Amino acid sequence: MSSNTEAWGSRIGLILAMAGNAVGLGNFLRFPVQAVQNGGGAFIIPYLICFLLMGIPLLWIEWSTGRFGGQRGDHSTPFIIQSMDPKRHFWKYLGVFGIFTNVAVAAYYCYIESWTLAWVYHSLIGTFSGMDQAGVAQFFTDYMVISQTTTGIPYENIVFYVICLALNTYILSRGLSGGIEIAAKVAMPLLILFGVFLAIQGVTLMAGEKGAVYDGTVGLNFLWEPQFDSLTNPSVWLAAAGQIFFTLSVGMGTIQCYASYIRKRRDVALNAMTAGWMNEFVEVVLGASILIPICVGYFGIDKVVELVNSGGGFGLAFQSLPYLFQNWGSLLATLAGISFFGLLFFAGITSSLAMGTPWMGFLQDEFGWKREHAAWSFGLLVFCLGMPTVLFFNYGVFGEYDYWAGTVSLVVFAMVESILFAWVFGIDRGWEELNRGAQMRVPHIYKFILKYVTPSMLLFVFIGSLFSPVGGEWAQAISDLFAGKGWAFDPGSLVGTISNDALKTQIAAAQTAGDMA
Ligand code: PHE
Ligand code: NA
Repeated sequence: MSSNTEAWGSRIGLILAMAGNAVGLGNFLRFPVQAVQNGGGAFIIPYLICFLLMGIPLLWIEWSTGRFGGQRGDHSTPFIIQSMDPKRHFWKYLGVFGIFTNVAVAAYYCYIESWTLAWVYHSLIGTFSGMDQAGVAQFFTDYMVISQTTTGIPYENIVFYVICLALNTYILSRGLSGGIEIAAKVAMPLLILFGVFLAIQGVTLMAGEKGAVYDGTVGLNFLWEPQFDSLTNPSVWLAAAGQIFFTLSVGMGTIQCYASYIRKRRDVALNAMTAGWMNEFVEVVLGASILIPICVGYFGIDKVVELVNSGGGFGLAFQSLPYLFQNWGSLLATLAGISFFGLLFFAGITSSLAMGTPWMGFLQDEFGWKREHAAWSFGLLVFCLGMPTVLFFNYGVFGEYDYWAGTVSLVVFAMVESILFAWVFGIDRGWEELNRGAQMRVPHIYKFILKYVTPSMLLFVFIGSLFSPVGGEWAQAISDLFAGKGWAFDPGSLVGTISNDALKTQIAAAQTAGDMA
């Protein structure tokens, strides 16, 4: 129990904060990249099905369990999920995922967020104007080098990182209604405004004008033309499920924490849908209409696929857009740069604020910490944990964080909570929690989906992420297995990662032994 009696100031504040939590860098950077890597239109159908059968149910589970735990004075997942099955104590330990994941994701997420601040600044002062594509790309590379001075400010990446964390910490220290709600009320409308401006620019791009080779519809068609053959490809399903978790912020513990500050009889069913669908609008309408249509318009699909596969999505946005915007003339280029990176910053900060709250709730509830102290401890912790991503950016630290914290733990935790909700807490009680104070009729079919479909799909995703085969070629891998050729794990899969590291150690040991002989 705690003396922490905070609550949301208004319904609109709650919805905007929850939408801000969901809408993030994932919508504008991760979604387009996942779509490109998984064949454009081939990705969309599994993505939408995952939204309906896992995303929506998990939103409802997390909103209602959060509010349930909040009634008992709990604001972090170890105690929230423990309160749903008080007799068995292991839930508490599983619930630690819901704190750990946030801190670990924040450690790389806030670093990217700080780049967006830097890119706003450089768009504003005109750093990119007159640079060619190689110049902008080089700028990115230089920025990542800690001791560089070529971008103008010494230790620039650290300076922006600290500014960004200080902002987060300050807002968090002001609490829900005095900090997070205000931030969401400012950030979300501006984000939509900037997003609509850029999406219009993206989809109305004309071939043959201002250096564009294709018009805006080419990239859009690539994303939206459904390809049904992908439905039988499990690795596309895994990617789609992963994107749904990340983008909705489910499986993390942030939604439960936000929801734990909702009063007992206030609606969760409709609010959850409002925030969730808002995220989908920003993702599939705005997110899909900016980066890809603009890049495809100038580079063509093949080049974009190549850029994504070599540099990742961050590379594409930070290394290409400031250059491409210049084709629109200097005034529009500046406006577009500020809009795009400003939009990313607003999307990012409303999400990283959410990542801070479970940690803070935990310290406030269990150790009686003051909110301000809890907030600063979060900033400090993220700074320390984030340093490896800053210092060793070029050595794959980033990918490690994203893989373990941003992918694996989400799936594990989502699986745990869906089983707890439907099978341990019990679907009847769960259904009652969801419907208490509900301002919409939850379709009855969802009782069935919550009980059977969502947990089995999560199990499937979990097993798939443990054992996915090299290259994601499931059919080939299964026939190889039966032909007695064994199972080659994808180095990116869970077991693959572990066994590959073991392999690397063996090889290294063998080499040293060889060198010594
Ligand atoms: N949903 C956010 C995004 O799309 C990321 C996020 C994950 C935010 C977990 C909070 C918690 O970028
Ligand atoms: Na999102």
